[in-house]
Amino acid sequence: MIPFNKPFLTGKEAHYMYQAVYTGKLSGNGVFTKECQQFFEEKYGFKKCLLTTSCTDALEMAAILCNIGPGDEVIVPSYTFVSSALAFVRQGAKIVFADSMERNPNIDAEKIEALITPRTKVIVPVHYAGVACDMDGIMEIADRHHLLVVEDAAQAIDSYYKGRPLGTIGHLSAFSFHETKNIISGEGGLLGINNERFIRRAEIIWEKGTNRSEFFRGEVNKYGWVDTGSSFLPSEVISAFLWAQLESLDDIQGKRKSLWNAYYEGLTPLAEKGFIRLPQIPDYATNNAHMFYIVCRSLEERARLIAYLKEHDILSVFHYLSLHKSDFYVKHSEAIPELSLCDMYADCLLRLPMFYELTLEQVDGIVNNVNAFFNDKQK
Ligand SMILES: Cc1ncc(COP(=O)(O)O)c(C=O)c1O
Repeated sequence: MIPFNKPFLTGKEAHYMYQAVYTGKLSGNGVFTKECQQFFEEKYGFKKCLLTTSCTDALEMAAILCNIGPGDEVIVPSYTFVSSALAFVRQGAKIVFADSMERNPNIDAEKIEALITPRTKVIVPVHYAGVACDMDGIMEIADRHHLLVVEDAAQAIDSYYKGRPLGTIGHLSAFSFHETKNIISGEGGLLGINNERFIRRAEIIWEKGTNRSEFFRGEVNKYGWVDTGSSFLPSEVISAFLWAQLESLDDIQGKRKSLWNAYYEGLTPLAEKGFIRLPQIPDYATNNAHMFYIVCRSLEERARLIAYLKEHDILSVFHYLSLHKSDFYVKHSEAIPELSLCDMYADCLLRLPMFYELTLEQVDGIVNNVNAFFNDKQK
């Protein structure tokens, strides 16, 4: 059976974790944490980065930093993971869901303005599959209405918009190192900060509402409780694992891109015949090969393709269910919006196996099976 995902180990993880354990500094904010944060700051140009125990945690920190309170509205695409919305709901926000674009599942920037009210505080673009949203359009609307932008870059490591690294364009951003991502630490995340005014408070929220970071730097002679917060930072053991992965970033990205390109080439004839749609990468975006998806013509056809591939020992999986139709949202909302493109992706998008150890021969085999499914049907 070809799995849908297989976490990749570079081979150095255990070595660095051993180092973290035997140097005796196990809690957070030690050498490995700082090394990982510096890697992101220097390579991509963030003003400051803080490792977290998940992308969900980084989004929760962002919601606190945006001063979200009861009644504030946050615009989020409905085609996304629960955390993009939930992190703000926990602070009391009302979520206003936006639809996807026709050409890819990202939020449609042209439909955002109509959703803005005097209570809107934040827009959350989610770079689906690591492909950039229309960030100029979104930042222009945000500036005009004095809104904050939190990029959900969970899937978007090492991907760019017009040459600018994703996560560095909005005010704040959140990345994931969950084992399904390109770079992993089991569970893990990172808060990217692009405006100096957030840095001091972010460090406090990160360290249980205390100014312990300042104390460790010798800037104050004692630390105490100064704000809200939680224990958002990972232990050094997790950061050590992540460091091993970051050292191999270029190799991992290169391999994934070669697999992605092989899928794209192999499935182009089927797309040209109109059986499926392939991912469209806009001119302004790069592809970090986080995911390879196809868009089927119907829910029913997708279900049959999943079953067909499974019969041939290939695991393919659909993705998000529309959040605006989720039990939680329906229970807590007065009106449910009509978001037809989001629903279409919820019904028709299918993800094919994508992981470092997948071989080009296996991709060929998967492509052949997808082709066979549609060609058999034609007979
Ligand atoms: C778009 C998006 N946002 C947030 C998350 C949450 O990430 P984590 O599992 O690191 O909390 C995910 C997880 O897959 C995601 O896909």
